[in-house]
Amino acid sequence: MSARTIVITGGGAGIGRGVALLCAERGDHVAVLDKNAEAARETAADALARGAGGALGVRCDVSDEGQVERAFAEACGRFVAPYGIFANAGIDLGGLVHELPMETWRRVIDTNLTGVFLTCKHGLRHMLSAKTPGSIVCSSSPTGFVALAAGASGAYSATKGAISSLVRCMAIDYARYGIRVNAVVPGATETQLMWQNVAAGEIARMREQLSQEIPLGRLAQPDDPARAVVWLLSEESAYVTGSHLVCDGGILAKASISV
Ligand SMILES: NC(=O)c1ccc[n+]([C@@H]2O[C@H](COP(=O)([O-])OP(=O)(O)OC[C@H]3O[C@@H](n4cnc5c(N)ncnc54)[C@H](O)[C@@H]3O)[C@@H](O)[C@H]2O)c1
Repeated sequence: MSARTIVITGGGAGIGRGVALLCAERGDHVAVLDKNAEAARETAADALARGAGGALGVRCDVSDEGQVERAFAEACGRFVAPYGIFANAGIDLGGLVHELPMETWRRVIDTNLTGVFLTCKHGLRHMLSAKTPGSIVCSSSPTGFVALAAGASGAYSATKGAISSLVRCMAIDYARYGIRVNAVVPGATETQLMWQNVAAGEIARMREQLSQEIPLGRLAQPDDPARAVVWLLSEESAYVTGSHLVCDGGILAKASISV
């Protein structure tokens, strides 16, 4: 396997970190972009220890175009143009629509949706100018398809539905250049994001309840969706574009009413 450059946003934690470490194990050059500079550098150091051909941790807020542009320039200056991009950085701020402050709505849209747009925009520019084929994976969610039963997830869900639409459009636009674009749909995955809207004292009870409700009987660990992403980034999925790889333990397959 030849070394590829893989750029991962939100790679300082959770699913993005999992993808960075799995890519490292196959010898890739890994560029970890995260607004948390320390976490990005820590993942990059761990990636080197796991066998990455090279690794770089860059502070980058994906909602800021200048930072995204500079981060790609730094990664492509250090390594070759990216073969793979995981546009993954995201936040989940809940709230009912009639109560949601404009600032919260904007933060979620700017990070999740504009962040994916900017990551793809600048990543594609490098891929196109290097004339390299490649693979882009964006993080969608079951909330892009169905409303969460717990509710109050309008802003987050709206970004995930939009990401799914953007993925289909980019798949068509860049197929002629040999660039595939797909979405991963992780289910409930044990990360900071999963529990940030849940009171600390409620987490154990909720984990137990969710495990009973999820058909496969457990929440995902970050490596579960990360392995799906690594497959989409690989030649093994050479004929897959514009699609969604659902890695949710069966959540979306299950009707929510008891009949
Ligand atoms: N965890 C789940 O259950 C789940 C389910 C479905 C989809 N997802 C999606 O997967 C993606 C990753 O989520 P996770 O669970 O690994 O989250 P996480 O909170 O563990 O990690 C997210 C990372 O993104 C970084 N980040 C946040 N805002 C950023 C910004 N503006 N610029 C750059 N980096 C930023 C954080 O610092 C963090 O390192 C998200 O898009 C999320 O919506 C997660």
